[in-house]
Amino acid sequence: MSTHADANALLAEIEGIGVDEKRGGYSRPVFSAAELELRVWFSAHATERGLAVEKDGNGILWAWWDVPGASADADGRHGAIVTGSHLDSVPGGGNFDGPLGVASALAAVDLLRDRGVQPARPLAVAVFPEEEGSRFGIACLGSRLLAGAVDPERVRALPDETGRSFADVSSDAGFDPSLIGADPGRLAGIAAFVELHVEQGRGLIDLGQPVALAGAIIAHGRWHVRIEGRGDHAGATRMADRQDPVVVAAETIRRLREHTLAVDDARGTVGRVLVTPGGTNVIASAVDLWMDVRHRSEEAVQRIVSDVTAATQCAAEDEGCVVTVTEQSFSPTISFDPALRDRMQEVLTDAPVLDTGAGHDAGILADVIPTGMLFVRNPTGASHTPVETAGPEDVTAGVEALADVLEDLLTR
Ligand code: GLV
Ligand code: MN
Ligand code: MN
Ligand code: MN
Repeated sequence: MSTHADANALLAEIEGIGVDEKRGGYSRPVFSAAELELRVWFSAHATERGLAVEKDGNGILWAWWDVPGASADADGRHGAIVTGSHLDSVPGGGNFDGPLGVASALAAVDLLRDRGVQPARPLAVAVFPEEEGSRFGIACLGSRLLAGAVDPERVRALPDETGRSFADVSSDAGFDPSLIGADPGRLAGIAAFVELHVEQGRGLIDLGQPVALAGAIIAHGRWHVRIEGRGDHAGATRMADRQDPVVVAAETIRRLREHTLAVDDARGTVGRVLVTPGGTNVIASAVDLWMDVRHRSEEAVQRIVSDVTAATQCAAEDEGCVVTVTEQSFSPTISFDPALRDRMQEVLTDAPVLDTGAGHDAGILADVIPTGMLFVRNPTGASHTPVETAGPEDVTAGVEALADVLEDLLTR
């Protein structure tokens, strides 16, 4: 294990964990063997650095650098600065979305110590579960629970792909699902949260800069579309007699593209389609698909979804199918705390401010505590794919920027 301010070396240590031979890249869904192994890896590094590792009721890991006299009294820590990110991934993702923020946080702790910084308040490195929502469907699930932005009863019942509930899966993984839910006492002890993240677009490439501050996250949401038809034989069933949900799904996907293109700078994606039962010579009985829609304007997002829903309903009627559209999650446009950003900008005078179309735990927490983000240049401009990356010098620049910001927040 490396303990010397090198996030590149830390990331190299986890390159073998959660490799997905079939899809390529990494699949590290929450509570999977890979994600649990990454938690152990993180805890070992935190412990080695003398940080006190705590697992809270929401499955969030907190590694505390406590300051005698300034923290850890009977009712908890006060005025803490928190940094960190997540270790779960999308299916077939890269090694940087999430882990870069965690590795950089550990490396920033090393750097602060090398610099002899004496914090006046506690620092924690946090690891959030199910940021991607790739197992239970709701992105930023850990931070939503912490912030009280999702009903714990609903979360306990959420099924994964195999139909197993969050409650069952989490308890098998050693978590107590009865403990999940809002934690205002913990939030009251946090003065600021700063998440470092690999950039997921081309902003820093275009600007020729290694590191940026985050401005805003555009509104985004997920909708589950279920289309039910009638399963039958591909050869024996006349075309006129079919109630084929795949034909309706095709219309949903085509209309999502059309309605998204009609709104300047909107994003609409269907990245997951499940055809039941899924045989080449079988007319399907049902299709499940998921729409991801994003735009700066919340109204524009809702309008795209309602237009696509209406078109899908029409197509379903024509085909003799039945459609239900359910909102899984919705996050309005958020702007990060302007006072915290000004302060970060005083420290990182050259860093540009970039908005993003990607969601983050920092975006959820921005609703309840002062929150900021740093982005590190990604030379491919691509993310949620194995090609997502960051150059070693940029990773180091990111760690230095994070340490500079943390030093300011911890000592002023
Ligand atoms: C998560 O990374 C998201 O933006 O969907
Ligand atoms: Mn992420
Ligand atoms: Mn992601
Ligand atoms: Mn994200």
